[in-house]
Amino acid sequence: MKIFLDTANIDAIKEVDAMGILDGVTTNPTIISREKRPFRELVEKICEILHPRPVNVEIISENPKEMVAEAKEYLKISDNLVMKVAMGKIGLEGVKRLTDAGITTNMTLVFSASQAILASKAGARYVSPFVGRLDDISSVGMELVGQIVDIFYNYDMKTEVIVASIRHPLHFVEAALMGADIATLPPTAFEKLYKHPLTEIGIERFKEDYKKIPKS
Ligand code: E4P
Repeated sequence: MKIFLDTANIDAIKEVDAMGILDGVTTNPTIISREKRPFRELVEKICEILHPRPVNVEIISENPKEMVAEAKEYLKISDNLVMKVAMGKIGLEGVKRLTDAGITTNMTLVFSASQAILASKAGARYVSPFVGRLDDISSVGMELVGQIVDIFYNYDMKTEVIVASIRHPLHFVEAALMGADIATLPPTAFEKLYKHPLTEIGIERFKEDYKKIPKS
């Protein structure tokens, strides 16, 4: 399973990239706004670190023709940008037009299997089911991921499933068990993948015991 970071924070991206396990980045307007930096400068920097790995940015236009123009502007920043398009009637037409123009898309804000099927048929390279937001309203987000993975497998649909809105390691592990292509995690959830209290206790104990070893 590929690992994307769901952030626009340069330090967080660099930290995970240094581990050699970063396959891409996803952003959205909320994530970008947290950084309080000019949009273009920030996206340029992220693309530079990640290139040629994908960096996802959100399309804002609400008109399918304008989406193509907006995407072409973004692509002047870097050719590893992927266009996130919000699910819906307009979004599906946008994905079709962008795909026809040779532009890579990620259909975002996906909350049902029917939405994922349509996104794939419209030409989306990625679909992003938001599992945490489903859990928040007492639906089991990961059940949706299971359905989408099965459906795409049944019909040999090439669209990759990005498990988004991940909140904790169980989402991540379940995503891998289900065969999802990608998990995108905010840095806070990513940290929880490698931290374990028994590891910390073990390290401390080894350090203490090392001191007890005669050095000569
Ligand atoms: C994915 O591409 C989205 O940016 C993200 O996962 C949304 O997560 P949230 O529900 O934590 O805002």
